[in-house]
Amino acid sequence: MATDTTSLQLEKIFTDAEDFLPLNGTDYVELYVGNAKQAAHFYKTAFGFQGVAYAGLETGVKDRTSYVLQQGKIRLVLTSPLGEGGEINAHINKHGDGVKNVALWVDDAVKSFNETTSRGAEVAFEPKVMEDANGKVTLSAIKTYGETVHVFVDRSQYDGPFLPGFKKWESHYQPTDVGLKYVDHMVGNVDWGEMNKWVEFYAKVMGFAQLVSFDDKDISTEYTALMSKVMTNGNGRIKFPINEPAEGKKKSQIEEYIDFYSGAGVQHIAVATDDIVKTVSAMKDRGVEFLYVPDTYYDDLLDRVGDIDEDVAILREHGILVDRDDEGYLLQLFTKPVSDRPTLFFEIIQRKGAQSFGKGNFKALFESIEREQESRGTL
Ligand SMILES: [Fe+2]
Repeated sequence: MATDTTSLQLEKIFTDAEDFLPLNGTDYVELYVGNAKQAAHFYKTAFGFQGVAYAGLETGVKDRTSYVLQQGKIRLVLTSPLGEGGEINAHINKHGDGVKNVALWVDDAVKSFNETTSRGAEVAFEPKVMEDANGKVTLSAIKTYGETVHVFVDRSQYDGPFLPGFKKWESHYQPTDVGLKYVDHMVGNVDWGEMNKWVEFYAKVMGFAQLVSFDDKDISTEYTALMSKVMTNGNGRIKFPINEPAEGKKKSQIEEYIDFYSGAGVQHIAVATDDIVKTVSAMKDRGVEFLYVPDTYYDDLLDRVGDIDEDVAILREHGILVDRDDEGYLLQLFTKPVSDRPTLFFEIIQRKGAQSFGKGNFKALFESIEREQESRGTL
């Protein structure tokens, strides 16, 4: 049954986690962007998402347009404002294009709201029921780091294309997918000295357990450093690493993010594939830019990670990184930032047993990011 990622496997595997906030998975990730129409085209063409739903002037929504895209179980919502002023414009003005809502799929959005707000979560919006001819959805929301929000979504009584108010998006242009399956983890960057505050938030307010931590000795190069702790819910479906900058000789990449995003926010969305070589070569063919990995990384790869199924020459050709832990190994690769500000990027990950996050790759990777920072004059 381990190979069937579509069936619900909700048993608790992290015993330190608490049971008051059961989460079934990521429901959707909503980005506020300057031009949702063009962003939707980018994610369809370059990342292989399919258009599934739309809301805007044609559906009676006057102040915004939203495009809903899907690939595997990953649902992206791209939203732009239709006039001046208001919350979405303010978000874009401050942060550029970025993740606003990390929505979580629950069985009871009211209970989720009560359990978290009674433990100190700040309210983003109170529970509300939205209805249309396809049924009803209950939503509620709490605030997390920066201006990011967790929306709790109970869609058990709904069978429309996305949420009430959205209509099916019929497009003649549906490029093939690239094999992306589900959100593996989403990483938050927070400001200096704030990591433990947010680790505590996920532990106390959401009942998460701490999976692992890295300090600046694990994750540093000659110039840049960061600290990171990984929080997970009980069934492991929701994993949120939290990063903060650490002192190095030059500016940390986390600090660069904080500067350009004007505060804390989502740094990367890691999306899983069953065949990273196929996925990454398809994305490259479609114009996605990935971080460059030094060729020397591969010279002693097998000494570091042991036997792997993949041909090292092919990994080298695509710049795919490999790391091993006690349980197996993983393959991963990171895109360059997807907007002009050096903020949000994507990680493509294929797990072959390993449940970790590629600690052994951090140094090689950060040296690559530093080369990019240097070219931006922000190192
Ligand atoms: Fe990651």
